[in-house]
Amino acid sequence: MNVSDAIKQRRSVRAYKDQAVAPELIEKIFLQAQDSPSNCNTQPWHVVVVSGDVRNNIEKAMMSDIMSGKPPTPHFKPGDQDLKDEYRTRQIACAVSLYGAMGIGRDDKKERQELMAQNWQFFGAPHAAFFSMPKTMSEINAVDMGIYLQSIMLLLTENGLASCPQGALAMYADAVHELANIPENHAIMFGLSFGYADEEAVINSFDVGREELSKSVEFYG
Ligand SMILES: Cc1cc2nc3c(=O)[nH]c(=O)nc-3n(C[C@H](O)[C@H](O)[C@H](O)COP(=O)(O)O)c2cc1C
Repeated sequence: MNVSDAIKQRRSVRAYKDQAVAPELIEKIFLQAQDSPSNCNTQPWHVVVVSGDVRNNIEKAMMSDIMSGKPPTPHFKPGDQDLKDEYRTRQIACAVSLYGAMGIGRDDKKERQELMAQNWQFFGAPHAAFFSMPKTMSEINAVDMGIYLQSIMLLLTENGLASCPQGALAMYADAVHELANIPENHAIMFGLSFGYADEEAVINSFDVGREELSKSVEFYG
């Protein structure tokens, strides 16, 4: 698979087969992603990859925090806040595609909440990764995190695997700090659920699409 195919094929996948990925393959993918570029080669990313009991215990702890009404405590400002104009329009269109594919209407509050809660159940994926960077760093370092995330997602695609990047996984980080080693002074920015896609699942059947090129890029000269 070449890069063009991997970019085209990668999509956020929200239902997975109950099939673990070989640990050697997971390690190989993270090893390859170490070649990602970063500002002054600072490589600000630290990742905990969780599988098996640790993954299950983190899911339980996050769900328990949510069910008990504990407020979310993201360190970095979530990407879905204060959106305006075309960004708000696209955010709504994205939600409409997701809920629409699942047959969930605007007023089906309970179903919407249940679907939202699947974020903290890793959408059934057998593996998840939590990405943190030093709390003192800012937007420009977040670029490094994003480039690194895309490297991993494309490598997963190349290896027949699927993933879903999730800002939601930075919302209830206490459980992760308790059950895995997040370096001191780091904060989780996002997570990534991954595994083998359940191709039959309805939730994986929609494509949010993209704006036409001219809305994003202008060429001169
Ligand atoms: C940084 C980041 C955070 C995201 N957070 C979530 C999330 O919390 N939950 C979710 O279901 N999807 C999340 N997504 C997935 C986006 O909704 C998805 O990338 C977008 O709609 C485009 O769809 P595609 O990935 O299928 O091409 C996130 C994506 C990124 C890059």
